[in-house]
Amino acid sequence: MSDPVKSRLSAQSVTLSYDKRTISRDLSVEIPDGSFTVIVGPNACGKSTLLRSLSRLLAPGKGQVVLDGQAIASMRAKEVAKQIGLLPQTSIAPDGITVADLVSRGRYPHQGLIRQWSATDEAAVSAAMEDTGITELADRGVDELSGGQRQRVWVAVALAQDTPILLLDEPTTYLDIAHQISLLDLFARLHRQGRTIVAVLHDLNHAARYGTHLIAMRDGEIIKEGPPAEVVTEQGVHDVFGLPCLVIDDPVTGTPMVVPRAIVGDSVSA
Ligand SMILES: Nc1ncnc2c1ncn2[C@@H]1O[C@H](COP(=O)(O)OP(=O)(O)OP(=O)(O)O)[C@@H](O)[C@H]1O
Ligand SMILES: [Mg+2]
Repeated sequence: MSDPVKSRLSAQSVTLSYDKRTISRDLSVEIPDGSFTVIVGPNACGKSTLLRSLSRLLAPGKGQVVLDGQAIASMRAKEVAKQIGLLPQTSIAPDGITVADLVSRGRYPHQGLIRQWSATDEAAVSAAMEDTGITELADRGVDELSGGQRQRVWVAVALAQDTPILLLDEPTTYLDIAHQISLLDLFARLHRQGRTIVAVLHDLNHAARYGTHLIAMRDGEIIKEGPPAEVVTEQGVHDVFGLPCLVIDDPVTGTPMVVPRAIVGDSVSA
């Protein structure tokens, strides 16, 4: 018999809604400790909603999100923020703020009445800017950056928070192919160093390359989860996205690689 999955962070039978509209009902998920978990699924299926609930931004109507055996809703925001960093899908920077100042805000959970800005904070901010390649942008205004530069600044904010668990909602959006790979390699490095990474990605080939555990969602439900080779299959891609495709071995990594078949007119055809 295999050991049960160890999971510091889980959602237990949660119902997630906006006003009266319910997105997910009775949803349960365990994030395996030390995993690079990737959430995939069609637009509007509830990926961001799940990530927001895991980070305590969205309170479940029913059920609970549990961190280290404690309901996250009963924990103080700062305590949660020391354990879980979130890169939201979209963020708005305060008017006129510089890159360095915004990244410094990632350190807020570590600040306190007594504990003021320290060398550790400074080092975390410098490392986050270095790792995301934005050191040269330190004194620029965030609102004058390109879409890709801005995205990397927000990733740096989450990294500066220096948490054991990182939730990343489409971290590679707006990035060119080289910056996408460099950022995913960075997350893979953090994962190897022991962090738990949970990322929403639309690129299934990236999901299969970098993920150790995949969660496929559709219509607010988890359709399938497991290692990439079990989730990214021709049948799996069809079940989740309704897309006929071939799945071949990625020539570089040997992980599943999706080759979509032609899409004709309004409907997808084989
Ligand atoms: N703040 C909100 N208020 C009301 N409805 C919302 C809100 N945010 C999301 N929704 C709705 O909840 C559903 C799930 O949205 P969610 O953002 O979780 O999807 P997603 O899977 O992340 O999609 P995408 O791939 O487009 O980012 C959608 O129907 C969306 O319209
Ligand atoms: Mg989303």
